[in-house]
Amino acid sequence: MATIVLGVCGSIAAYKAAGVASRLVKLGHAVHCVCTPAALQFVTPLTLMTLSRNPVICTFEDETTSWVPVHIELAQKADVLAIVPASANTMACMAHGMAPNALTSLYLAYRGPVLVFPAMNGDMWDHPATQENARILEQRGCRIIGPESCGMLACGTEGKGRLVDEDTIVREILASIPASQC
Ligand SMILES: Cc1cc2nc3c(=O)[nH]c(=O)nc-3n(C[C@H](O)[C@H](O)[C@H](O)COP(=O)(O)O)c2cc1C
Repeated sequence: MATIVLGVCGSIAAYKAAGVASRLVKLGHAVHCVCTPAALQFVTPLTLMTLSRNPVICTFEDETTSWVPVHIELAQKADVLAIVPASANTMACMAHGMAPNALTSLYLAYRGPVLVFPAMNGDMWDHPATQENARILEQRGCRIIGPESCGMLACGTEGKGRLVDEDTIVREILASIPASQC
């Protein structure tokens, strides 16, 4: 069974990461949630910890359980890194090698498959900066899945930007698990 790191960013869709964590755990995988500080405005570590059955890393101060920084330990043992949802800000950090928090630091230290599931306002997604960041990440081997091309957004507009549905997220994560860990 695989070790899956679920990165969670500051998006209204962050609560959906809880459903994904729960399904992966029920399938027998070890799930470790790493939240950006902004994600905590949208989902609680208690929810993610309970459903993932593992401690949740939210800040560098949470990393007191081991002399090796936990985000480095997780980067070394993860089979898959899935960012659900991925914010425009975190995609920008990833594309430009910035590591202000545990999730972006883990990304830089990690060498396996990376799945990015963006969710944001359609104009944010369409902005040339976001599009360029998505292209950079794809060129470096990340898979960008979504966002949906239409649907009602939390900001009240209809259009592009929604996180893809839970079934798609779980299916894509399972498909990216290296064969040796299935
Ligand atoms: C109510 C609300 C909803 C937001 N939803 C999103 C979103 O879906 N996608 C996004 O990229 N940013 C969204 N933001 C802005 C991010 O929270 C902000 O850019 C934050 O700095 C992202 O930090 P992170 O990338 O470290 O998680 C939202 C902000 C608010 C106040």
